[in-house]
Amino acid sequence: MNKRLIYIAVWLALLAPLPAVIVFGVTAFNPIEYIERNLGLWGLRFLILGLVITPMARIFRRPTLICYRRTVGLFAFTYVLLHWLSYIVLDLYFDWPVILKDIYKRPFITIGMAAFVALIPLAVTSTDALRRRLGPVIWERLHQLIYLIVPAGLVHYWLMVKADHRSQLVYGAIIIALLAWRIVDKTQAAARRRVRAAEKAARTAA
Ligand code: HEM
Repeated sequence: MNKRLIYIAVWLALLAPLPAVIVFGVTAFNPIEYIERNLGLWGLRFLILGLVITPMARIFRRPTLICYRRTVGLFAFTYVLLHWLSYIVLDLYFDWPVILKDIYKRPFITIGMAAFVALIPLAVTSTDALRRRLGPVIWERLHQLIYLIVPAGLVHYWLMVKADHRSQLVYGAIIIALLAWRIVDKTQAAARRRVRAAEKAARTAA
């Protein structure tokens, strides 16, 4: 299929939850709660989707999948931003003393806020120009923050609920599997590098 068409399909798929959340939200019993919660949920889902892309590309030998990672990441950021805005604007009507007290006193808000703030530099540095300016090492290091942000998003979700953590457990299992895959992948890559270095040293000595 044409690459442009695939891009459009990806954009539409990532955009689709937004009108759905708004349409179902305005007719919901509690529209603000519905919109706020569902934007957070889609933010978390797309953050997880961003982590799925690399293992998929590697396992199914589809390196071109990697080029959708930035788009997915930026959409995840946009949903989290809208989730935060819905809390600030719709839920608390810019009541800054209450917002600041919430951030300070309610651990689930503190963690959500930390995850959101940590996402900002990743979104800002996602352009090619800034990536080049930072250089691959710093850029990679910075973007490894995602391995803390996604679990923090999950902890935020977990702490929000007093009982019945079933869906958090499902999201948690997926996140653990994706992080575990990366640890195994990195360990294997390091082992391969060590073997290559040892072979090269043996050849030089011979
Ligand atoms: C990476 C950042 C974040 C993620 C992934 C995230 C995700 C979520 C999720 C999944 C929920 C529960 C949705 C449900 O019950 O179905 C939620 C709820 C909530 N989040 Fe976040 N969130 C993030 C950041 C924030 C920030 C920065 C704030 C505000 C400062 C915030 C405020 C809230 C509030 C108030 C609720 C509960 C809404 C309610 O009880 O009606 N979140 N969030």
